Amino acid sequence: MRISISSSLATTLLLADAIVGASCLPKSTTRRWNGSTYSCKCFPGDDCWPSTAQWNALNSTVGGNLQVNIPPGAPCYKTFQGPFGNISTYDAQKCATVTSKFGDEQFQVDLPAAGLWTYFTNDTCRPTTNPSDSCTLGNYPVLVLTARTAAHIQAGVNFARQNNLRLIIRNTGHDFLGRSVGWGSLVINTHNFKTISTTDKWTGPGGYKGSAITAGAGVQAFEALARLNSLTPRKIMVTGECGTVGIAGGLVQGGGHGPLTNFYGFLADTALEFKVITADGALKTANSAVNPDLFWALRGGGPAAFAVIVEASYKTFNDFPSAGLTLDINPSTNTNEQLFWKAVEKFHSYSTRFVENNIYVYYELGPVPMTLHVQPIVGVNMTLAQLKAVVQPLFDDLNAIGIRYASTEKAFTTFYDLYKAMFEIEVAGNSALTGGWSIARTDVQNNHPAIIDAFKTILKAGGFLVGHMWNAGQTLPQSEWAKSAMNPRFRSVVDKLITIVPVSGNAPLAEKAEAQNRLTNVVDASLRAASPNGAAYINEADPFQPNWQNAFWGTNYPRLLSLRQKYDPNGLFYAVSTPGTEKWEQIEYGTRLCKKLN
Ligand SMILES: Cc1cc2nc3c(=O)[nH]c(=O)nc-3n(C[C@H](O)[C@H](O)[C@H](O)COP(=O)(O)OP(=O)(O)OC[C@H]3O[C@@H](n4cnc5c(N)ncnc54)[C@H](O)[C@@H]3O)c2cc1C
Ligand SMILES: *[C@@H]1O[C@H](CO)[C@@H](O)[C@H](O)[C@H]1NC(C)=O
Ligand SMILES: *[C@@H]1O[C@H](CO)[C@@H](O)[C@H](O)[C@H]1NC(C)=O
Ligand SMILES: *[C@@H]1O[C@H](CO)[C@@H](O)[C@H](O)[C@H]1NC(C)=O
Ligand SMILES: *[C@@H]1O[C@H](CO)[C@@H](O)[C@H](O)[C@H]1NC(C)=O
Ligand SMILES: *[C@@H]1O[C@H](CO)[C@@H](O)[C@H](O)[C@H]1NC(C)=O
Repeated sequence: MRISISSSLATTLLLADAIVGASCLPKSTTRRWNGSTYSCKCFPGDDCWPSTAQWNALNSTVGGNLQVNIPPGAPCYKTFQGPFGNISTYDAQKCATVTSKFGDEQFQVDLPAAGLWTYFTNDTCRPTTNPSDSCTLGNYPVLVLTARTAAHIQAGVNFARQNNLRLIIRNTGHDFLGRSVGWGSLVINTHNFKTISTTDKWTGPGGYKGSAITAGAGVQAFEALARLNSLTPRKIMVTGECGTVGIAGGLVQGGGHGPLTNFYGFLADTALEFKVITADGALKTANSAVNPDLFWALRGGGPAAFAVIVEASYKTFNDFPSAGLTLDINPSTNTNEQLFWKAVEKFHSYSTRFVENNIYVYYELGPVPMTLHVQPIVGVNMTLAQLKAVVQPLFDDLNAIGIRYASTEKAFTTFYDLYKAMFEIEVAGNSALTGGWSIARTDVQNNHPAIIDAFKTILKAGGFLVGHMWNAGQTLPQSEWAKSAMNPRFRSVVDKLITIVPVSGNAPLAEKAEAQNRLTNVVDASLRAASPNGAAYINEADPFQPNWQNAFWGTNYPRLLSLRQKYDPNGLFYAVSTPGTEKWEQIEYGTRLCKKLN
């Protein structure tokens, strides 16, 4: 007999094994779904869901900032039937507030965990006048950690990783794709990171010596722009057209386009440095000298894919006098459908001329039939006369075809004043699926009738369009393009379209499947076919489109995939259709987030 270890040593080893074994117990569940086997994150009710003692320990680590999440509509209901049992929630006063404010963007932004566009919350607890209706959690998160320090984020990241939880980073909740909510999840809310500092002279690596802003993860565009406007000289920066969107969360990780994109590219193109927490819980700097690969990936490589941003620094620029126009064609100016489409064709054919002249245009086509609402047409660094000179040929064309329209115009001392005055406030709380495609210049030049036919198809299919005319390449030196992870095809885009297909978040599953199918295979398919040289924007597009890797990132995808494997090898972070998520699915009717094993 060759085994010579004593029985007591063997016992010790067995014990050690048991202990090691226990700590290595796979914290996951294995499930079968639709003929495949999946390894799933841990959810309430699972054996691997953390114990109350563990949650309490996390709560004390984060200074009591952990809360069980209750949907915003719950005060209108007698009972919230949550994952930890029933809670009495009725409160007439709070119900009146949430009912009247449900459409207010900033009200929703300030909530701990709501999604502004409610489709992906599953609409299981909307404000109601019938308190006896059912209010359940739907896809709202289970718990929310309202982070106030980087250490709180680190504690949340470590806890989620150690316990294999579904983790959502939530900033403003503006996300169109449902990425700021998630069934069974723990949310880390970054809304309280509101510090802003500015400098005239950036001293970090990368060669840039101009002015800059450093903003905490929760800073919103309107806050940053107001601060920059208070400086002497007045400064501006690239943001989206919507002032309530954050500047250091999903916007920059998706790219971030706006009225200054003709001049400076995407927000991602203007990034100088990030402070982040990676999936291993480490606080890191990412700039052109330190972790340059991560720096590149954070600039447009996809939200919630590589790290949690704690703070971001961007270039800022001097403000300019600016001018704006509006153009409206609707049933009160015209009721002739043929004429309407002729006018849309004329309007859209000018996208190339507009962007060549650095003009930015925001417009809506539908949802009311025969409605084209163009507000604003923006001339940054232009007088009103200069702007009108560029736009006049369009007005001449409209006059020549004999259509009636309405138009307004205004000059501003600064771009900041124009931004505040001319971009309209959007309404939150609605439910829809969002898709979109970006039209390439060559396709407008060579294939314009097909593009207008696609618009007709979309409206006929019950969808509508929001357009953004800009060019993200022409004034940015080509040497700058590769510094961000944006799909190189965006550099020749002239109109970035959002498509919208209304559908209620609590519609029957078959109705939801039909709407998704219509979005993917009719609405967006028509745009993809009409503009084969275009691209898709990860923040405003259908994540379920075919070949999304190429649509979103083109030739940059393979590098992004390898960086995802480097920085988040086990999939702590998840946002649909971001690099490396191919095997991840929400199985069981869009609930459990799981990785397919075979
Ligand atoms: C009304 C409206 C107008 C818009 N206009 C524009 C526009 O002009 N230009 C444009 O480019 N986009 C625009 N968008 C889209 C916008 O880019 C996205 O909605 C974006 O994801 C919002 O980012 P957020 O951080 O504010 O929102 P959230 O919904 O909180 O987050 C969005 C995504 O980013 C992740 N995320 C948030 N914070 C962090 C962080 N600190 N670290 C890591 N991941 C994080 C989230 O997990 C989520 O996946 C608009 C959206 C809306 C609703
Ligand atoms: C089930 O799997 C098939 C084949 O992979 C796929 O086409 C189908 O969409 C899946 N159904 C669901 C509900 O996921
Ligand atoms: C966390 O602690 C705070 C303060 O003690 C408490 O109000 C809150 O309910 C706790 N959260 C959870 C999930 O127990
Ligand atoms: C929770 O409330 C619902 C609706 O009022 C009720 O049907 C259910 O029995 C309750 N469950 C428990 C455990 O009390
Ligand atoms: C989400 O809504 C669908 C109906 O659209 C329903 O079948 C499903 O059970 C809901 N899921 C949750 C978690 O509320
Ligand atoms: C703004 O306009 C002036 C005068 O037309 C021009 O010299 C300057 O280069 C413009 N600035 C930018 C950033 O385009």
